Amino acid sequence: MQVATAKQRVKSMKKLKQPWSLSISPSCLFISLLVFASLLFAFSLFNNKLSYSKSCNYTHGRWIYDPSINSSPYDNRCKEIYKGWSCIRSNKSNPIDMVKWRWKPYQCDLPQLDPLSFLNRFRNTNIGFVGDSLNRNMFVSLFCTLKRVSGDVKKWRPAGADRGFTFLKYNLTISYHRTNLLARYGRWSANANGGVLESLGYKEGYRVDVDVPEGTWAEAPSFHDILIFNTGHWWWAPSKFDPVKSPMLFFEKGNPVVPPVSSDSGLDLVLKHMISYVNKRMRPSTTVFMRTQSPRHFEGGDWDQGGSCQRSQPLSPQEVEELFSLKNNGTNVEVRLVNQHLYRAFEGTRFHILDISHLSEFRADAHPATAGGKKHDDCMHWCLPGLTDTWNDLFVAYLSNIKDRT
Ligand SMILES: *[C@@H]1O[C@H](CO)[C@@H](O)[C@H](O)[C@H]1NC(C)=O
Ligand SMILES: *[C@@H]1O[C@H](CO)[C@@H](O)[C@H](O)[C@H]1NC(C)=O
Ligand SMILES: *[C@@H]1O[C@H](CO)[C@@H](O)[C@H](O)[C@H]1NC(C)=O
Ligand SMILES: *[C@@H]1O[C@H](CO)[C@@H](O)[C@H](O)[C@H]1NC(C)=O
Repeated sequence: MQVATAKQRVKSMKKLKQPWSLSISPSCLFISLLVFASLLFAFSLFNNKLSYSKSCNYTHGRWIYDPSINSSPYDNRCKEIYKGWSCIRSNKSNPIDMVKWRWKPYQCDLPQLDPLSFLNRFRNTNIGFVGDSLNRNMFVSLFCTLKRVSGDVKKWRPAGADRGFTFLKYNLTISYHRTNLLARYGRWSANANGGVLESLGYKEGYRVDVDVPEGTWAEAPSFHDILIFNTGHWWWAPSKFDPVKSPMLFFEKGNPVVPPVSSDSGLDLVLKHMISYVNKRMRPSTTVFMRTQSPRHFEGGDWDQGGSCQRSQPLSPQEVEELFSLKNNGTNVEVRLVNQHLYRAFEGTRFHILDISHLSEFRADAHPATAGGKKHDDCMHWCLPGLTDTWNDLFVAYLSNIKDRT
């Protein structure tokens, strides 16, 4: 907007210039100098727009509809897009309109990730996404964005990852390490010979070893230069971890934690051990992020109660508060609950918090919904192209600020 003003100024000066344009008078020279200065001014503003502001709070902002946006960083031909997330292919009503919303921080601009400068800047670098399917959603967005400008990739599974790619021309590797709880877990049944949990009446459940990382990412901290972790949804997923029929049973040093603790205390234990595990194994130069919780947008019930997300526009700030405030304790309240645990656990650690929650809370329009190809609406994952592209823009903005500081 400031650039436009500068341009207008240049224009109005050109108008002024006309009456004298045939003679080279001192005033003409003066006007020319002014025009030149204005152009310089406009140019420097343009340059500022491409850089990242250190003082800017990137999560403090709003979504702006920009009809002039007519392309996304990649399209639905990118093969990594899981079919339930490909909203263009599955004929969702708004996938084109959805990407015309741009996140505008109040204090600065959030530049769109530039794939070529990203590839150049992160030559000889390994980047790992560690977490649940929401981190895969973000990983796929980054992969597709980079793949469009650099097609020569090797597909492999670095350091135990589920999926990974090396962009050969740049020797940049990105991978996705699937883990739901970060800690290792598996089914548990009462032992006929008895035990502590058996004596407390437990018959079935899930054993969660709070101090043992899941094998899929155990090697990731020593392999990657940049790591992005997440966890959250599975801690609030009673469909699998039914607190009565199949509760989470926490183990530490191989023994049951007694008295047994609730799953949110279990999450705190897992985070504590995960932080010390990662600290011990990563290199001094490693940059490590914890991504905050991705919000769900079920309205009219939870996912298994006919809840849906039919909106075609982002929510207003009031609607966001109604849906997510802890006070209202609604269907999707877990986003802010999980974040309370994350902020507590990571304060004062080497982890940077990648805060995507607030800006994502508005985007009730950006889930696959009925196009997700499941029996129920998918109001949890995000359409691609879509919101996780903005998460990656934010990721690069954070990275730039961190790297500049050191
Ligand atoms: C940044 O903005 C968010 C959203 O408005 C706010 O919750 C947060 O406290 C702000 N952070 C800082 C450091 O001011
Ligand atoms: C989407 O629409 C196209 C054209 O009408 C149709 O061929 C295709 O089968 C539809 N896809 C889905 C998943 O419904
Ligand atoms: C590619 O990058 C990795 C990770 O930084 C590095 O260990 C390796 O030596 C690089 N390979 C080449 C050929 O530069
Ligand atoms: C929030 O709602 C859930 C069920 O919807 C209930 O089990 C829980 O106790 C409530 N929490 C608070 C703090 O009111």
